[in-house]
Amino acid sequence: MAKKFLWGTATASYQCEGAWNEDGKGLSVWDVFSHESPLNINHVTGDVACDHYHRYEEDFKLLAEGGHNSYRFSIAWPRLIPNGTGEVNRKGVEFYHKFIDSMIAHGLEPNLTLYHWDLPDALARKGGWENKETAYAFADFARLCFKEYGNKVKIWVTINEPKYSLFSMYAAGNYPPNVQDTQRLMVAAYNTMFASALAAIEFRTFKDIGHIGIVADYDPVYGVDDSEECKFAVRMADHVLNGWVTDTAIKGTFPRELVDTLAQRFDVGFMKDEDKAIFEAGTLDFLGINYYFRAYVRPYTTGECMLAANNTGKSGANVSEVDGVQRTMVAKGMFERIKDPEGIYTEWDFEIFPDGMYALLIELRDRYGDIPLYITENGLGIREKPVDGRIDDDARVDFLDQHIQALLRARSEGINVCGYYVWSAFDLYSWVNGYDKRYGLIYVDFDEGNRRIPKKSYYWYKNFIRKFEEGK
Ligand code: BG6
Repeated sequence: MAKKFLWGTATASYQCEGAWNEDGKGLSVWDVFSHESPLNINHVTGDVACDHYHRYEEDFKLLAEGGHNSYRFSIAWPRLIPNGTGEVNRKGVEFYHKFIDSMIAHGLEPNLTLYHWDLPDALARKGGWENKETAYAFADFARLCFKEYGNKVKIWVTINEPKYSLFSMYAAGNYPPNVQDTQRLMVAAYNTMFASALAAIEFRTFKDIGHIGIVADYDPVYGVDDSEECKFAVRMADHVLNGWVTDTAIKGTFPRELVDTLAQRFDVGFMKDEDKAIFEAGTLDFLGINYYFRAYVRPYTTGECMLAANNTGKSGANVSEVDGVQRTMVAKGMFERIKDPEGIYTEWDFEIFPDGMYALLIELRDRYGDIPLYITENGLGIREKPVDGRIDDDARVDFLDQHIQALLRARSEGINVCGYYVWSAFDLYSWVNGYDKRYGLIYVDFDEGNRRIPKKSYYWYKNFIRKFEEGK
């Protein structure tokens, strides 16, 4: 287990690897969606992306030169098991051996995520996360990874962002399978957490393999006022946005109040008594937190459940406006998530709120005690173009500086935060947003052979890490 503070960057397989059909890889849902769906509104794919599959050596060299000592990445499940279950593709297995070896040779401690949304299409065709068999298939895939890479990798993550991904898949409907149905969302959510627990149980059968956690997109919740109605809205928002992932992962149970509330309107019969022991035995060692924004909420007023997705980068896209208030999410009878008229937002409606970093770290310690925490993603997505061959991304430097200062403040107060990863290492495929929304410390020129150009933030981060390590 790592002792020194980890400074790194993060990526995910589908967003950067490319090589979508090479060396025996099977199809993922994102291959199919990006090729075929009319809902792929930016009309681009991850077929080549950053070509990280072929250029990882060069990328690791750049990251190491940038002072990083860790790298967070994910494994493409359909590269290893093309149909999701059954036959293993040795070429895929060997690829990640070389990939991880190279990372380690460059002094980057691997932080491995087993699932970052590229579900094998063959499983999606049988119901995907709505089918409990997917959870068992995931546990088999996880076991294969533990067996193959367990002597090299010591930081493991089961699932990246169950909430954000499933809400996009089954509430906003902008991710495949592009559904808007709360009942189906609940079933898929339950099975995803069940899969994480099954994988953790597999993990415990291995020795000297490090520790395992889950990555949650955790939104610290702020209410518009202190009224009793608003306190209820805050509590419910916290269950819906955070607790069902983090409580279940760390305590082994879903928040009772949430289950009772949902049971009044939905069928929760899929929550089986016999699964309780699996959730309890499958708790995890740490939380990885992806922090992008807080949640600002008020009591529910009117209308059906909705979740806005802004994939165009046009501020206010798809919000539901009531009496001049922009609502980005409505959870009927529970709360509304709104835009703060005083808040600072990106063009994709991500609020910039560095204090939330400090608040969430304190909150997590209060909730779960002294468990290890990592900030596994934090970053700013904006449109950028080089000027005279340079990218002076001062806005990103400010963003990172403010968020890291908030993290270090919490750390100085004894919070057990063990690492920080910028999203992202280099510009990559930003899901339905396509390539317009750039997050990287390193610019990728997608029109010119995927040329890499380190941005001002890359040099700033390097200098920051150096000063931190020198104790300045
Ligand atoms: C997280 C994901 O939700 O945030 C990443 O783990 C994602 O995969 C990142 O790219 C930023 O979100 P987006 O939609 O702006 O790419």
